[in-house]
Amino acid sequence: MIVGIRKLPSILGAASLQSHRRLRTKLRMGQHNAEHNASKSNHQSRVDKFSEVIRDDHTGGWETCWEQGLTPWDLGQPTPVISHLCAMGDLPNGRALVPGCGSGYDVLQMASSERYVIGLDISHNAIQKARELSSSSPKIGYFSFLKEDFFSWRPKELFDLIFDYTFFSAIEPAMRVAWGQQMQMLLKPNGELITLMFPIDDHIGGPPYKVSVSDYEDVLLPLGFKAVLIKDNEHAIPPRKGREMIGRWKRSLAHASL
Ligand SMILES: C[S@@+](CC[C@H](N)C(=O)[O-])C[C@H]1O[C@@H](n2cnc3c(N)ncnc32)[C@H](O)[C@@H]1O
Repeated sequence: MIVGIRKLPSILGAASLQSHRRLRTKLRMGQHNAEHNASKSNHQSRVDKFSEVIRDDHTGGWETCWEQGLTPWDLGQPTPVISHLCAMGDLPNGRALVPGCGSGYDVLQMASSERYVIGLDISHNAIQKARELSSSSPKIGYFSFLKEDFFSWRPKELFDLIFDYTFFSAIEPAMRVAWGQQMQMLLKPNGELITLMFPIDDHIGGPPYKVSVSDYEDVLLPLGFKAVLIKDNEHAIPPRKGREMIGRWKRSLAHASL
């Protein structure tokens, strides 16, 4: 039987105040845990549904997800570590790219008079949402959103910085080599690639597909990228803590394309 917390004193009668308080705390914790577990399983079922849509339709699945609001990855705010790096002045200036930018929060966060940022997404709905969300930003003129397929896009100018978050883990693992080659082609010599590597765990299937630091190394090191920093992302949001690392990679001066 579940009893309302406020009714407990009369029900307990002569029970000591102390044991009543302990019981009340336990009940509250129970309620809190139940709510937490319910929201966790609700989130997990949205992730499962989104994975299913993408697996069933590799080409149009992303659009369907955006149309149906099936975007469980969306933080609804800039990625905290990006806000931190911007505040510390610890990002290269010049031209920046966010492939698979989704709602575009990071694009807007990184944009400045010193840094022009392009957000790229294959979904028309994602790009439309990103444009709407950013339409009254005082940073207008310092960013743009393009509906393009990352793998076939050929821009006229290269980038000083590329930021990848949940894009590498969104694409099929068989596409990872092509992902690396495209990163190499899009970056200026000595340009920087920042990867937030998530989810680092052992789950099966996807998207998101599990990742490890060596998955990135396997693709990037043979192309001449050098890891300048690999560490745990202490700014990860609580549900991702311990399963997310940041990697900062420099493209070698020797490999030039475009
Ligand atoms: C998991 S979401 C991540 C969105 C965003 N980075 C974030 O963290 O909120 C992956 C995004 O990549 C986009 N996407 C998938 N394949 C793509 C491709 N080939 N080219 C460009 N964008 C793509 C999807 O439409 C989706 O918005």
